[in-house]
Amino acid sequence: MSAPVTHSPTPARLLLAIETSCDDTACAILAYDGTILAEGVLSQTDHAILGGVVPEIAARAHLDALPALVTEVLKKASLTLADIDIFAGTTGPGLIGGLIVGSSYAKGLAMALNRPFMAVNHIEAHILTPRLPSLGAELHFPYLTMLVSGGHCQCVSVEQTGHYVRLGGTIDDAAGEAFDKVAKMLGLDWPGGPALEKLATEGRDDAYALPRPLKGREGCDFSFSGLKTAVSRLIDTQDPTGTRDALPRQFAADVAASFQRAVADVMADRAEHALALSPNATALVVAGGVAANKTLRHALEQVAANHGIPFFAPPLRLCTDNAVMVAWAALERLHAGETPNDIDTAARPRWPLSERTPAHA
Ligand code: KG4
Ligand code: ZN
Repeated sequence: MSAPVTHSPTPARLLLAIETSCDDTACAILAYDGTILAEGVLSQTDHAILGGVVPEIAARAHLDALPALVTEVLKKASLTLADIDIFAGTTGPGLIGGLIVGSSYAKGLAMALNRPFMAVNHIEAHILTPRLPSLGAELHFPYLTMLVSGGHCQCVSVEQTGHYVRLGGTIDDAAGEAFDKVAKMLGLDWPGGPALEKLATEGRDDAYALPRPLKGREGCDFSFSGLKTAVSRLIDTQDPTGTRDALPRQFAADVAASFQRAVADVMADRAEHALALSPNATALVVAGGVAANKTLRHALEQVAANHGIPFFAPPLRLCTDNAVMVAWAALERLHAGETPNDIDTAARPRWPLSERTPAHA
C-alpha cells in the first residue's frame, strides 16, 4: 500500500482497534496489559426489515458510523488520536466491503499519525477473547473453543497464540445461520437467535423428535441443513400455505424448544469428540454470538464437568462481534513478540486460522 512505517522501539502503550467484518461497527481502546479503556458497538438495524445482512448496505453503514464512533470511544477514554500508539483492524474473514472500509480507516489513522497497524483475524479474535485479563478466567493454553456465530462454526484447539488446530467445522450452515433461518420460518424477526430462545421458553424441548446431524459420528464436524429441512417440513404440516403468522403459538414454541435442544445436543456431542482428541485441554470455551444461548451453554458446561475441566463463556457483549476482542488479539500477538507491520496487507474474505500472514497487497 505505502512506504513502511517506522516503529517506536518501546512497546505500544495504547491500542485502538476497529471491527467491521459483518454488520456491527465497533471500536475499542485497550492498554498494553489488556485493560479496557473504552469500547463502543453500533449494530446496524437496517438489515432487520430485509431479513438478513446486505453486504453493500453494511459496508456503507460502517463508513457512515466510523468517524463518530471513533471520536466517541476516544472521548470516553479521555484520549485523543495522538495518544494512540498502535492501530489494529479486522482484515478477515468476513464481508469484503466492510473489511476494506474498517481496515482502511484504521490504516489511514495509523499512517496519518506515523504509527504501526496490525491486521487481525476475526476468528482468532473470538477465540482469544476469553483470555482477556479483566475476565478473570486465567485461561491457559491449550484450551478447546467451540466458536458458534452467524458466520462461523468451528471447533478449535487453541495451542498457543498463533497456533491453532481446527478440529472441525460446519459442512453447511453455521449454527447462528440455522437459528436465524428457523426463526424466520417461525415468523420471528431477524436476527432470529435471541427471539427463538425467548419463544422456546414457552415450549417443550421433547415435543418433536428432530434429527441430530452427525451426532455420534467420527470427528468434530457439524451439519445443520438436515435439521433445518426437518423443521421446515414440520412447519409445513401446520402451515401448508406458508403464512407464518398463522402458526399456533404453542406449536411454534414447541418447535423452537425442540430445535434448540437438537442444536445443543449436537454441539455437546461434537465437544465430547473434540475433548477426546485434545486430552491436554485445560478448559472448554464457547465463543461467538450463539454462545449467548443458555441451553447451549448448559449443555457445554455439562460436557466440561464430565471431563473435569472448567467451562468458560465470555460475557455476552464480548461473545457477539466487538472491537475489544480485536484489540486483545493484537495485544496477544505483541505479547508473543510479534512486530506490528501490516500496513501493506489486503483485506481477505477468507482467512483460515492456519495462515498467520495476512495477504500482502
Ligand atoms: O458473533 P455474532 O455477533 O456475529 C457473527 O460473527 O456472525 O453472531 C450473531 C449470531 C446470529 O446468527 C444470532 O442469531 C446468533 O448469533 N445469536 C443467538 C443468540 N444470540 C445471538 N443464537 C441463539 N441464541 C441466542 N440467544
Ligand atoms: Zn464474529
